[in-house]
Amino acid sequence: MSTLFSNIASLVTNTDGVFAQPAFVVEADKIAWVGEAKNAPAADSRVDLEHKTVIPGFVDSHAHLMFAGDRAEEFSARMQGQSYSAGGIKTTVAATRNATDAQLEANLARLIAEMQAGGITTFETKSGYGLDVENESRSLAIAAKHTGETTFLGAHVVPQEYKDRGEGGTDDYVELIKNEMLSAAAPHAKWIDVFCDRGAFNVEQAREILKAGIAAGLAPRIHANQLENIGAIQLALELDCASADHCTHLTNQDIDALAHSKTVATLLPGAEFSTRSKYPDARKLIDAGVTVALATDCNPGSSYTTSMAFCIALAVREMHMSPAEALWSATMGGAKALRRSDIGHLSVGARADFALIDAPSYIHLAYRPGVNLISDTYIAGRAVTK
Ligand code: NIG
Ligand code: FE
Repeated sequence: MSTLFSNIASLVTNTDGVFAQPAFVVEADKIAWVGEAKNAPAADSRVDLEHKTVIPGFVDSHAHLMFAGDRAEEFSARMQGQSYSAGGIKTTVAATRNATDAQLEANLARLIAEMQAGGITTFETKSGYGLDVENESRSLAIAAKHTGETTFLGAHVVPQEYKDRGEGGTDDYVELIKNEMLSAAAPHAKWIDVFCDRGAFNVEQAREILKAGIAAGLAPRIHANQLENIGAIQLALELDCASADHCTHLTNQDIDALAHSKTVATLLPGAEFSTRSKYPDARKLIDAGVTVALATDCNPGSSYTTSMAFCIALAVREMHMSPAEALWSATMGGAKALRRSDIGHLSVGARADFALIDAPSYIHLAYRPGVNLISDTYIAGRAVTK
């Protein structure tokens, strides 16, 4: 069964050039042909895209969707002058531990629906609001029913009951993560992550945890230098992390080292927006040759948005990325941050994941901030919205 999609205002493939009157064919779940409409091969059916813009589906390579409750009051207080710290996470931990499986899954489903309505076709999600063996492993088991990109983040912060142990409590918690918690989480996870920052885990602890995860068959990624530069980039490169995320505080040496590595720098401007913090220097990263991804960081504390279009608008307005760079980072960049070659682009053989923008070009994503211009989202060739 093949379908020809035509009458397209503009098509972004991320790999092929620009076609004057583009069209493409989907066969089963993949892109089978891309080119000028006049050269299109015969297909079993045809869809008229009513002169909309087609882009690869957004790849959200960093989100924290396994939680319950919200922290609206904390946000409100912050907007009135209080500063953000990793400590607020404990509020969400308490709510998450108290939630039933059904509540956690319903919250996840709600967020997935928002993401898909906004054009996200692949998302990663982390655990990290359970922080005990049972709650980390059930968070990941539920997440794994909805995405293959699951990340064990038992090392989000040290939970209160371990902090209360005083000196030695953090070491005890690191041991728990590396042993019992990792064994329970690993069957449901692809990745392992550590929040390596002030108020969370230091480089030595992060190294131990990531190495234990790697030994258990998980691939590493890292929250690096969101609040302060504590040396997380060197660790990311030492362990060949697929991605170093946040990258708000970097030295020139960090940037140069990233540029000469396979590690993607994932920028999360929703977090700077919602914590009223300095944005990472995307321009400097891109100009140095670093591969940059954009992701939502959707979580109830520091970035409660599922809108990649909003992140693109922030990247363009606040981080001086061009609209084309921001779109690439939100699609191909995200795919690279997940070390995936089957998504993030629309060349022949790619998974047919795409979004329709009800506008003449992708520039409108940043040019019309706050307006959801995504009218339809297709995953593996099937319309998932409307
Ligand atoms: O990516 N940086 C660590 N974790 C989240 C924040 C989590 C929270 O505040 O609940 C982040 O910004
Ligand atoms: Fe995060």
